[in-house]
Amino acid sequence: MSLKIGKYIIEQPIVQGGMGVGISWNQLAGTVSSAGCLGTISSVGTGYYDNCKYAELKKDRPFGSDNTHSKEALREIFRKAREICGDAPLACNILHVITDYKRVVLDAVEAGANIIVTGAGLPTDLAKIVKDFQDVAIVPIVSSGKALKVIARFWQRAGRLPDAVIVEGPLSGGHQGVKKEDLDKEEHSLEVILKDVIQERDKWGDMPVIAAGGIWSREDIDRIMSLGADGVQLGTRFALTYESDADQGFKEVLLAAGKDDVKIIPSPVGYPARGVETELIRKLQPRKTPCISNCIVPCNHGEGASKAGYCIADSLGDSYRGKKDTGLFFCGANVYKGDKLMHVKDLINELTEK
Ligand SMILES: Cc1cc2nc3c(=O)[nH]c(=O)nc-3n(C[C@H](O)[C@H](O)[C@H](O)COP(=O)(O)O)c2cc1C
Repeated sequence: MSLKIGKYIIEQPIVQGGMGVGISWNQLAGTVSSAGCLGTISSVGTGYYDNCKYAELKKDRPFGSDNTHSKEALREIFRKAREICGDAPLACNILHVITDYKRVVLDAVEAGANIIVTGAGLPTDLAKIVKDFQDVAIVPIVSSGKALKVIARFWQRAGRLPDAVIVEGPLSGGHQGVKKEDLDKEEHSLEVILKDVIQERDKWGDMPVIAAGGIWSREDIDRIMSLGADGVQLGTRFALTYESDADQGFKEVLLAAGKDDVKIIPSPVGYPARGVETELIRKLQPRKTPCISNCIVPCNHGEGASKAGYCIADSLGDSYRGKKDTGLFFCGANVYKGDKLMHVKDLINELTEK
């Protein structure tokens, strides 16, 4: 069964979720797309790419949003991914909260993204931003039918509708769509919100609904698709591949994580986030945190970082570099099931074999 997103046909209904900073860049996304699934390049913090070759640094960090979300680095990441996957569809994940969202969307289009995926906020402006690029498919990530409704209404005014919608549930890695105290409530479970999003989708057309969050095995995929999903998005399983672009130290932290090592913490982004308990999380408390990257709007130049006790760009950048004490290691709730790294090809075989 294939997946159609806009004019793009993906042979297998499996999407590799965008993972920043630096987990899903050229090697991972290119390999996934070359294997008949959809690879997603993360656009955030590209100034960390290749030890910041493309970015101006201050204290070893990309300085300001132009350098943090570097256009040149993103172009290079796409060029190298294309060396692996050729013309196969490639997506780009762009968080709505980042500083320069519009500029980064246009950078991604110029770099050759076929599909733009946006979560972390309601991307009501995305259809307007890409109005001159009708070939570029646009896909929101939502955690309720209501969010899809708001987005579809705005996009319709710009003459577009979502080409697919990703519905992300509370077992997913990284930022969550609902408050910490609501994460365990039945009404927010993937099964319930999937049904809600499918009902809303049916009012707008037949765009595919892609389910994400906690999907680990072939059985999980079959089960969620039997509930009406047209495809699935997986993050953590792809993070645990040889091809994922982060340092080996990042993968070691995820591989070592047990069930109780996974925590929900506040984030300067304004949503709770899921990651492995490391030194950073154990010592977490509000503290004055200087801003170098100007990475996201809601942080307001370090205000949110000081409240949460860490800078999101610096901490994710450190996990990408494998720095176990200062890094923030995002993962899904099922990370404890991972006991070895796999090659993308073998993982996809495991997930798709009859
Ligand atoms: C290390 C990591 C980083 C992530 N970064 C992003 C991101 O930058 N943007 C985004 O939309 N989702 C991000 N996610 C969420 C994934 O794209 C995916 O939807 C989610 O992890 C699915 O849940 P799973 O990990 O249980 O498969 C991240 C997840 C992980 C594990």
